[in-house]
Amino acid sequence: MPPARIDSERSHVLPLELARPMPVIVRGQGVWVEDAGGDRYLDAMSGGSMAATLGHGRRDIIEAATAQAQRLAYAHHERLTNPAQERLASELLDVAPEGFTRVRFTVAGADANELAVQLARSYHIERDEPDRWQVISPAQSYHGPTMETLALTGRPGLHGPFGPYLPHHVHIPPSTWRLDPTGDAALDALDRVLDEADPSTVSAFFCEPVSAASLPAYAPPTRFWKGLAERRERHGFLVCFDEIVTGVGRTGDWFVGATTACQPDIIATAKGLGAGYAAIGAVLVRDQVYEAISQGSRRFPMGHSWDGAPLSCAVGLAVLHALRSEGLVDRVHERGPRLLDELRVALDGLPIVHEVRGRGFLLGIELIDPRDRRSFLPPELGVAGRIDAAAFERGLITLSTQPTRDGYAGDQTLFAPPFVTSDQELEEMVARLADALRSVSAEVEAELGAAPPARTSAGGAA
Ligand SMILES: Cc1ncc(COP(=O)(O)O)c(C=O)c1O
Repeated sequence: MPPARIDSERSHVLPLELARPMPVIVRGQGVWVEDAGGDRYLDAMSGGSMAATLGHGRRDIIEAATAQAQRLAYAHHERLTNPAQERLASELLDVAPEGFTRVRFTVAGADANELAVQLARSYHIERDEPDRWQVISPAQSYHGPTMETLALTGRPGLHGPFGPYLPHHVHIPPSTWRLDPTGDAALDALDRVLDEADPSTVSAFFCEPVSAASLPAYAPPTRFWKGLAERRERHGFLVCFDEIVTGVGRTGDWFVGATTACQPDIIATAKGLGAGYAAIGAVLVRDQVYEAISQGSRRFPMGHSWDGAPLSCAVGLAVLHALRSEGLVDRVHERGPRLLDELRVALDGLPIVHEVRGRGFLLGIELIDPRDRRSFLPPELGVAGRIDAAAFERGLITLSTQPTRDGYAGDQTLFAPPFVTSDQELEEMVARLADALRSVSAEVEAELGAAPPARTSAGGAA
């Protein structure tokens, strides 16, 4: 048996952070995972990345994967198709927003987002508008670790040393409570960048309809969506939604984009489609996008070797079947508002908590400096990391982030349990998270004392 934790000096794996010993997880069942030392943890983050929407160890998914692997695990999509891919495309469209008629499968979220950008550009080329290539996206988002998707995120803090390799994209500030509660400033910024770019060169507006890790469970105000829809109408660009996390049920809707006041033209999704049992993503397009290709060149660029592979598509089918037959998207829809209330009540009065927000089983906790209840927490306190460590000590897996240096958000915590979490398990997750936050909040208050926070131009602590 391996040790319960491995530090980077004793591993051959190149981890994300070399200073952080990595817990070794050896098995999972339902919403529990177990480390090599036999300690058990409640998985409040659906496998850590929000992918494992159905929990761990599901026999039905494993059996579907086994049966498909025995029949045919792999066939490349370029010159061949397979029944699992064909059926999954059709079943995914059954639950997609109205008007979506074609699907291209991918391996993950980042490549789905890249494909969405390529599809938007192809749409314009096919319609004889070759000057349209620019993409506008809100800063303080996350779309993946590849060069194109890193560039779309608009976060220099995340770009690290790779800035010189990143393609140019145009960004607007996110309309958060601190800087732009109505969405008007974001719309003004959109008008400005459209003008500067020349609207006839803009291919797409690209965003997360509800943010995942970058601004946990934040959604722009309705006014912003309406304004975006008006500008699309006026200027002729497409709207692409990154539903890598929100797609396939996470917010209590099959696709949350369908509920906004700006219906998307292209949707990229991934995590919940494989539910942690296979690497699979998908890009769904509205009929007009498909028609442009169908009536134009009738070609669209190749993808990755594993796109649409029988094994991953069979898993996708089993996942959709489980979600439908167990009514899990409805459960998330119905249970989500109560879960939000329960988390709010459990965290009520904690001086470092500004807001608990979210939809369905995608909830976020935004933290602030308790001294003025507005600024970001001083980043050197490392509050995000301390919350995850405190939760882990209490047998709970969480994910907190600290994008302070990008200027739009400070420390924040995600809460995104699997859809199959029972009421009792949800209660236990909320209790453990509240206990962890109470403990960190008390430490932080003691450390900060009465000294007022130093301000930055974004309103955060320096
Ligand atoms: C909103 C969002 N988009 C895209 C991605 C990238 O997906 P993947 O890691 O599967 O490439 C992620 C991953 O966390 C994400 O949260």
